[in-house]
Amino acid sequence: DLDQKVDSLLAIMTLEEKIGQLNLPSAGDVSTGISTNKGIAKQIKEGKVGGLFNINGLDKIRAVQKVAVEESRLGIPLIIAKDVIHGYKTTFPIPIGLSASWDMELIEKSARIAAQEASADGIAWTFSPMTDISRDPRWGRVSEGSGEDPYLGAQIAKAMVKGYQGDDLSAANTLLACVKHFALYGASEAGRDYNTVDMGRLRMYNDYFPSYKAAVDAGVGTAMASFNEIDGVPATGNKWLMTDVLREAWGFDGFVVSDYTGVSEMIAHGMGDLQQVSALAINAGVEMDMVSEGFLTTLEKSVAEGKVSEATITNAARLILKAKFQLGLFDDPYRYMDEERASEIFSDENRAVARKVASESMVLLKNEDALPLRKDAKIALIGPLANNKENMVGTWSVSSDISKSISIYDGIKEVSTNPENVKYAKGSNLVADPDLEERIGMFGKNTYRDDRAESVMIAEAVSLAKNSDVVVAVLGEASESSGESSSLTDISIPEVQVNLLKALKATGKKVVVVLLSGRPLVLDEILEDSDAILNAWFPGSEAGLALADVLYGDVNPSGKLTMTYPQNVGQIPIYYAHKNTGRPLEGEWFQKFKSNYLDVSNEPEFPFGYGLSYTNFSYDNLKLSSEAIDKGGELRVTVEVSNTGNVTGKEVVQLYIRDLVGTVTRPVKELKGFQKIELKAGETKTVEFTLSEQELGFYHQDMSFYAEPGEFRVFVGTSSDEVLESEFELK
Ligand code: IFM
Repeated sequence: DLDQKVDSLLAIMTLEEKIGQLNLPSAGDVSTGISTNKGIAKQIKEGKVGGLFNINGLDKIRAVQKVAVEESRLGIPLIIAKDVIHGYKTTFPIPIGLSASWDMELIEKSARIAAQEASADGIAWTFSPMTDISRDPRWGRVSEGSGEDPYLGAQIAKAMVKGYQGDDLSAANTLLACVKHFALYGASEAGRDYNTVDMGRLRMYNDYFPSYKAAVDAGVGTAMASFNEIDGVPATGNKWLMTDVLREAWGFDGFVVSDYTGVSEMIAHGMGDLQQVSALAINAGVEMDMVSEGFLTTLEKSVAEGKVSEATITNAARLILKAKFQLGLFDDPYRYMDEERASEIFSDENRAVARKVASESMVLLKNEDALPLRKDAKIALIGPLANNKENMVGTWSVSSDISKSISIYDGIKEVSTNPENVKYAKGSNLVADPDLEERIGMFGKNTYRDDRAESVMIAEAVSLAKNSDVVVAVLGEASESSGESSSLTDISIPEVQVNLLKALKATGKKVVVVLLSGRPLVLDEILEDSDAILNAWFPGSEAGLALADVLYGDVNPSGKLTMTYPQNVGQIPIYYAHKNTGRPLEGEWFQKFKSNYLDVSNEPEFPFGYGLSYTNFSYDNLKLSSEAIDKGGELRVTVEVSNTGNVTGKEVVQLYIRDLVGTVTRPVKELKGFQKIELKAGETKTVEFTLSEQELGFYHQDMSFYAEPGEFRVFVGTSSDEVLESEFELK
């Protein structure tokens, strides 16, 4: 069997060859960190490379695999990895957008398609899903995650692992998945990337761990260590995290890879020299070293000096080799390199799914009789990125062919019945400061800065607006304003864009704002000057078409926010599942000696779970199957949801609970169920949820998980803020 095969191979490997399996260099075709370059082919021949990533193109991948298989002493195949994050060539919305669809089937399908495409193109392993919970929109990487909520994050993690890995890892169209960044990366202080994390155990276990654990429970094959420290020890060298929690408590049986130079970065963390930090990492439970070459260059010495046991290295090699066997690489090292499957990549079928997913991810934040648009309307399409292809796919889309993505301008013309009625003007630059724009575009996609004066650009846009029926203003961020190393202290709409919007509004025309963003933004500057706001995130390769589907009403928007939108930056961290405190503000803001601010209320701009539709939904008859349940029993919760408007629409019905009394304090609301349903105009459906100890339980001070008897409140509604409620008792 598998273990025997791995053991027989290990038996003939030298220590040096085992260490070689633990080395994951970057080929340097794509930049996902500070570039490093070396003679990779020579290293492969010498058996010093276990896998390779950031390599592009089937021919190249085939060539390096050939070296490994035919020229290294043991012919062990390489595992080829890539950041396949939200699609491969067919690019889906950025993950925070995907999460806003609340549609687990579609999310799983997007991962399935990504796996299908990447696995034909040489890739066997993806560094996804990213399941870092975050409550700080200053952190650029919120774009890559599923928002602030542990329950939703866990469901999405599960769906993505299933989508990538399928039921059979050895199938030619599945990928090995990697849950990242373990752990707590989303809680870096002040939202600054790579910064310190310091968190109490209860928050860790109840709020930040469940999404990683869900991926492990779903059978994820690998995990990536995060860059941050936890309890003063970087995750990459944190034995408690990697061994006690991940392996022993959660039963993870795959292998752990460091993040890019995560091992050598522990030198800067202050944990020692390269030999010391490499020993720290492998002894902690990290099996593969991405880019640092700390394992490759120091582990033999550490074994000789008794700082690392050979058994530790053998065990690490065992886990990596096992994954290679599971992927079927020993049966056919070229399994994931199939020119004949090229037609499966960026196929019309896959693009149609991407269009659908993108339209389902968009969140309608405001609509005062402005949307949907008539298909023959004269549209003034304005905005720095309204006629741009590169920025449609969003961050972490390293395999996307950006020249083929559909711009908003092209998409709207395509779906309009009178394309000649759609006219475009840029209106403003993305930001006023060219240096900031240069920093944003440093590794990314061109925003085509315009040298004209602000007033000239606005005047051109205003004149177009005056000759139109409606203005569609595409505002917000560029693709690379969010993502790795793209933290911001100011997440409001840049002043140049606000000035443009005010001028457009002054024409008296209806103004629809389409927001491009990789994070929640502060919108107060644009709320008043717009008639509608549709948050489109970065929709992916079919961006323009998906957006047109929603703007024209072919698709009724159904996305709901998965992160709270603050009124201003000072409210951060702001999230719906907060604690009550001993001095909660009840009733009107402001009250002295209550937990509130002098200058701004505690309310978010838009709450978690919020999103409008072109129709209306009403909630009635919230019923519980009983007033009390026994431990081990189940409570059924039903509610009637009706579409009271004129068009078919989809609604995400959300269930929250509150444990009213506990031995430790509990959040004022916690999501514990959701269902996305479709209702025709006038239709009513009864939606049923089940609550059991699993949903009612939580981790206690001794880290045990159970539900405490007592009173619970249950809420069901259209967002975390608009709910019906009832109560029951757990006996
Ligand atoms: O997978 C990524 C990770 O998310 C951030 N650092 C680089 C890795 C590999 O590209």
